[in-house]
Amino acid sequence: MRESHDVLNPATEEVVATVAATSPEGVDAAVAAAVRAQRGWAALAPGERARLLRRFAAEVDAHLEELAALEVREAGHTVGNARWEAGNVRDLLEYAAGGVERLTGRQIPVAGGLDLTFHEPLGVVGVIVPWNFPMPIAAWGFAPALAAGNAVVLKPAETTPLTALRLAELGLAAGLPEGLFQVVPGAGPVAGARLVDHPDVRKIVFTGSTAVGKRIMERCAAQVKRLTLELGGKSPNIVFADADLERAADPMAFLDNAGQDCCARTRLLVQREVYDRFLDLLASGVRAVRVGDPADPATAMGPLISAVQRERVRGYVTPELPVVARGSAPEGPGFWYPPTVLAPDGPGVPAATEEIFGPVAVVLPFDDEAHALRLANATPYGLSGSLWTRDLGRALRLARGVAAGNLSVNSHSSVRYWTPFGGFKQSGLGRELGPDALAAFTETKNVFIGTEE
Ligand code: NAI
Ligand code: MG
Repeated sequence: MRESHDVLNPATEEVVATVAATSPEGVDAAVAAAVRAQRGWAALAPGERARLLRRFAAEVDAHLEELAALEVREAGHTVGNARWEAGNVRDLLEYAAGGVERLTGRQIPVAGGLDLTFHEPLGVVGVIVPWNFPMPIAAWGFAPALAAGNAVVLKPAETTPLTALRLAELGLAAGLPEGLFQVVPGAGPVAGARLVDHPDVRKIVFTGSTAVGKRIMERCAAQVKRLTLELGGKSPNIVFADADLERAADPMAFLDNAGQDCCARTRLLVQREVYDRFLDLLASGVRAVRVGDPADPATAMGPLISAVQRERVRGYVTPELPVVARGSAPEGPGFWYPPTVLAPDGPGVPAATEEIFGPVAVVLPFDDEAHALRLANATPYGLSGSLWTRDLGRALRLARGVAAGNLSVNSHSSVRYWTPFGGFKQSGLGRELGPDALAAFTETKNVFIGTEE
């Protein structure tokens, strides 16, 4: 029996497409084709590989509106975000293309000969992508992996396979060799698991839940398979009394993409003397967020991805937790949930410690710097965070003290394709993006050449 997945428009619950799920045998066939394609790709002149990747970037750019519209339909992303996401794929391909001819080894002084290092491609890389940012997260994996001389087999999320399938077509149209970049839609525990277990897949790049990431890490251990993990987050937004409170209280720091963002600043830690003022600002900001049709450019927040995700989010908003701010959401079809801020009694409730992945944040007061740091680090996660203060020394102390991979001071920004990204603790393993992105898709080989007579 051939399995398939219905792709729903999360804003309307209408079926956008039905996509056949790849069987384990289908994954095997894709990996076999990738093994063949990779040999030729790695043997191409670096300048030729770079040129083909730039052409791929140009194809993506030429289809930016189409890709963005597809992401609005399959994922409910606001059209402004979706355009940015398609542009991010283009930029990642160009950035990676610029790295092909810069993937230089070293010459290390030794007695009696010459010592050289080479960055050898791994072979076939498996990229397993979640539904929250289907295009950027795919490209964080495939662009540097291809640039470093690898082939890629990509497994998109069940709910959002359409943009990945289209990107693979655009790669072929740009002249990438057949089999070099393939997309295998299907179920995580079937197609995804087969990719993880396949002996010819030399590395897995996984973004998703910490629970599945741990399981994949166990499976990779059996083959000492290389692995990058980008998992959950429960990131703090630490606001001191001397901060620019208006900017610190920007609700989009946790509402962007309806909160389905591993970097969402969902724990608002606020110094006690400005707590009430901060809450006023936050509550009016939350109420002003336009929630609705994601295809409307004026919309700031769309629906959640699925009914399952909405139930998961609802489960955290329990009756005993005081709601201190609430926004609006459309009635009727679609997986809507209103922006919600909770003020629990203490930091221990699940809403304050677990990743909710929806438009829900908690707010907690703190007394001083030491207290703020304790609260910030009191979670198994360590992905992101914002620090707001005009005291430079304090900003630097906290930036070094918070155990997280990506922090911003007096800003809510976090991800740029040319700076490194990844988590501390249970938020992940390894780094993506940034100047070393290609190196993560290579093995360093050392060669000594004797010169003695
Ligand atoms: P998930 O971790 O199950 O799915 C992510 C990807 O992994 C999908 O492509 C899925 O098909 C695949 N997958 C699932 N099981 C697999 C397996 N056994 N072997 C190989 N691949 C497998 O995430 P899910 O269930 O969609 O979301 C659950 C929660 O995970 C969310 O509420 C959120 O808290 C978190 N999450 C975090 C993300 C992040 O950006 N770090 C992204 C998506 C989810
Ligand atoms: Mg799952």
